[in-house]
Amino acid sequence: MAKKIIETVDLWKEYTLGDQVIPVLRGINLVVEEGEFVAIMGPSGAGKSTLMHILGCLDVPTRGKYVLDGEDVSLMNDTHLSQVRNRKLGFVFQAFHLVPWATALENVMLPFLYSDRPPRDARQRAVDALTRMGMGDRLRHKPSELSGGQQQRVAIARAIVNNPSLLLADEPTGNLDSASSREVMEIFQEMNREGRTIVLITHDQEVAAYASRRIILRDGRILEE
Ligand SMILES: Nc1ncnc2c1ncn2[C@@H]1O[C@H](COP(=O)(O)OP(=O)(O)O)[C@@H](O)[C@H]1O
Ligand SMILES: [Mg+2]
Repeated sequence: MAKKIIETVDLWKEYTLGDQVIPVLRGINLVVEEGEFVAIMGPSGAGKSTLMHILGCLDVPTRGKYVLDGEDVSLMNDTHLSQVRNRKLGFVFQAFHLVPWATALENVMLPFLYSDRPPRDARQRAVDALTRMGMGDRLRHKPSELSGGQQQRVAIARAIVNNPSLLLADEPTGNLDSASSREVMEIFQEMNREGRTIVLITHDQEVAAYASRRIILRDGRILEE
């Protein structure tokens, strides 16, 4: 059996508002094996982003277990968690989240500089990542000087510059036109073919079709797998 990158066991997330407890995730059992490309679908408010934030170690569950690449996340201290986020995980968001005053090159160099690898490699690795995304001739452009599709390609370059084993994307094509969406999805597909594990949230059936497995979330539960 392939190695499990993600394993959640009866994962719950609840918010307390006054004396009301609102369950957002209600017992998620999810296994993602190394090399899979999984699309998480479901209506707005189903808990997709909440689940993604927990999978990305940006948020913690109310209860239940999350094992990431063989390690129980709840047992990690803050230093260990930030190392895991930096080395093992890459994030791509719907709204790109690029630093507006920085160039494409600087944006892609940022996570590398936060890691413990030699900074003199940062520039070359960032150039390589951007070139792979077809952005080698836009290194000095600021985000505002790029189209949406180009900004998302910079964001993907930033997500992969530390060579993470798991790529998480929350509606990465949500702000893109259909041609740019296809370009971005072809990039995800190619990265998956190279062995990277991908978990992606989408509303769009056409986008989900690029994945090798689709999961539907509704009211905080997985409907089908
Ligand atoms: N900080 C919060 N406090 C209270 N409720 C929240 C909070 N964050 C999210 N929710 C609720 O959790 C539910 C799921 O949200 P979300 O995970 O963003 O759904 P999706 O990404 O599937 O649209 C929503 O009903 C939302 O209102
Ligand atoms: Mg969402």
